[in-house]
Amino acid sequence: MKVGIIGSGDVAKALGSGFLKHGHQVMLGTRTPAKLAEWKNANPTGLTGTFADTAGFAELVVLAVKGTAAEEALREAGAENLKGKTVIDATNPIEDAPPSNGVLKFFTGPNESLMEKLQTAFPQANFVKAFNSVGNTRMVNPSFKEGKPTMFLCGRDDQAKASVARILDQFGWETADMGGPEAARAIEPLCMLWCIPGFLRDEWTHAFKLLR
Ligand SMILES: NC(=O)c1ccc[n+]([C@@H]2O[C@H](COP(=O)([O-])OP(=O)(O)OC[C@H]3O[C@@H](n4cnc5c(N)ncnc54)[C@H](OP(=O)(O)O)[C@@H]3O)[C@@H](O)[C@H]2O)c1
Repeated sequence: MKVGIIGSGDVAKALGSGFLKHGHQVMLGTRTPAKLAEWKNANPTGLTGTFADTAGFAELVVLAVKGTAAEEALREAGAENLKGKTVIDATNPIEDAPPSNGVLKFFTGPNESLMEKLQTAFPQANFVKAFNSVGNTRMVNPSFKEGKPTMFLCGRDDQAKASVARILDQFGWETADMGGPEAARAIEPLCMLWCIPGFLRDEWTHAFKLLR
């Protein structure tokens, strides 16, 4: 599959290398190409481009930009380039403010989510929330003695969610489908919970598992 990842940060680079490892074609999108020089050296078959090049190239889009810039980044990518495509939304609505006692601040309220805002702004794309509730170093084939961790996902389109679940299976995760876009109101704050041990005790290597 041709995977276009909008972003040049740690998440975009980790997922980009992961998709390449699993045999996909990958383009990373940025406004500042110099930020990807090192990634490109380490991943010579990986492509880089603008946000619009990346969304145009993609059969599957991954959104991995700063939450406050997510809507703007998608506008730069171009609504036409997103039309009919699955967009894996790895973003979190983190405010530009320091955490309180390790608890991040969000710019969304409890009965709203960033993914719902993006889905409303780009109705012709199918957003699937995933990869937002774990650190980038554990996103691709993580190894835990307790077994596979669980990735919580949600979105309005069942086929889009099924294609993301297949990727997560390749990436060594079990998935828990939490339903429609509104479930992002619960999945996005998992990021807050995940980050607390990091900010308080410098522990950044855990992942969530749903026991059934
Ligand atoms: N870091 C993690 O381990 C982790 C884990 C799970 C989820 N997340 C979420 O994943 C997302 C990406 O995180 P990250 O740590 O990889 O990177 P980040 O530093 O949060 O975001 C970097 C990206 O945001 C873009 N960006 C920043 N301001 C922008 C603006 N005004 N307009 C357009 N684009 C803008 C940058 O564009 P340029 O390329 O042009 O610089 C860059 O591609 C975030 O929403 C984060 O909450 C992060």
